[in-house]
Amino acid sequence: MPLGVAGGDQPREGDVASLDLTHADVERRYGVSRREFMTFCAGIAATLGLPNSAIAQVADAIVSKQRPSVIWLHHQECTGCTESLLRAEHPTLETLILDIVSLDYHETLFAAAGHQVEAARKAAMAKNKGKYLLVVEGAIPLKDGGIYCKIGGQTSLELTREVAADAAAIIAIGSCASWGGMPATDPNPTGSAGVAEALGRKDIVTIPGCPSNPYNFLATVVHFLTFGKLPPTDSLGRPLFAYSRLIHENCERRAHFDAGRFALEFGDEGHRKGYCLYKLGCKGPMTYANCSIVHFGDVGMQSWPIGTGHPCIGCSEQGVGFSKPIHALADLVGQRPPATYPGVVEAQGHGATTAAAALVSGAVGLAIGASVKLTRLLAANERASASAKAEDRPAQSAKE
Ligand code: SF4
Ligand code: F3S
Repeated sequence: MPLGVAGGDQPREGDVASLDLTHADVERRYGVSRREFMTFCAGIAATLGLPNSAIAQVADAIVSKQRPSVIWLHHQECTGCTESLLRAEHPTLETLILDIVSLDYHETLFAAAGHQVEAARKAAMAKNKGKYLLVVEGAIPLKDGGIYCKIGGQTSLELTREVAADAAAIIAIGSCASWGGMPATDPNPTGSAGVAEALGRKDIVTIPGCPSNPYNFLATVVHFLTFGKLPPTDSLGRPLFAYSRLIHENCERRAHFDAGRFALEFGDEGHRKGYCLYKLGCKGPMTYANCSIVHFGDVGMQSWPIGTGHPCIGCSEQGVGFSKPIHALADLVGQRPPATYPGVVEAQGHGATTAAAALVSGAVGLAIGASVKLTRLLAANERASASAKAEDRPAQSAKE
């Protein structure tokens, strides 16, 4: 898909008519054509579960709103979330993110160091008091007074508390900042915790993943820009637009799961044919994320773990990623019918589009989308098994 957003709906002329943005403006600012830019905005709107009518609003917010100041802290982590954001193949993603926000403090990206950057952070905090976004990447060690991670002479906890005090909103990016991630793996020698636990706050938006999907971060920031607030979340602080459905529900291999076709070993015939990876330990059935809809890595379609042939390890799910053995079978509880790709008995090409699935994944369409898909699937299943039985009968009689 253009600009790496699977599920992006194509904008129509009417959607963009209100936007006073010329081709030259867009090309100069983002290095892409106006159509590519609007397609990108459509993808972000679809990711957020917004209707086509919101595309112009999103584009308008990206282009014209004052860029919010962002203070980005790093603690116990590998910097993978920042890397995945910057290593996106298409230059537009990081260009857009860095254009949408005013990145006033980022320990990895700043050319300056030491007292200079600390002074820049304090100046940005004072200038934008109560209005800046705090983005936290990495877990916060709490054991032994938090001495296992210090920045500029402060522990991670002290620094985060100081910056959080006057932030308009806090985003925890990646599994480490969301719930501890890899650093909190047993036996968790430094007492690592996610930001919400460390600060004792419940109003923090978390975007777990290892790394987190940069498009989910971008969509969250665009939501803040467009509507002046962070998107609605579940009880773990995860935006509903991205984490309300199991990966298994939208997986491109789901039809094979339903048909009982599994890869049993890496490289076997089932694996080469793209069968379901459940028996190789795929945690898609117990992991809530939109990886299967909003691919990432920008290496073309199917650029996500399962798309490349590796089982999901549940990197975004607390209690699954880095906890459950990689090849242990996933729990199959509370399963719902496939939401994106056609079921095994549905004719190819008649399933929901990825964009439609992204929309039904949104809070508004969730219940309706699920029940419509369920009804359609059950009806199709019944039709298919009736016709399969009819076809089998003569063959069976001949054998007898
Ligand atoms: Fe996809 Fe994994 Fe579910 Fe199989 S078990 S359909 S590979 S999410
Ligand atoms: Fe992680 Fe599984 Fe998505 S391994 S990136 S949650 S497919």
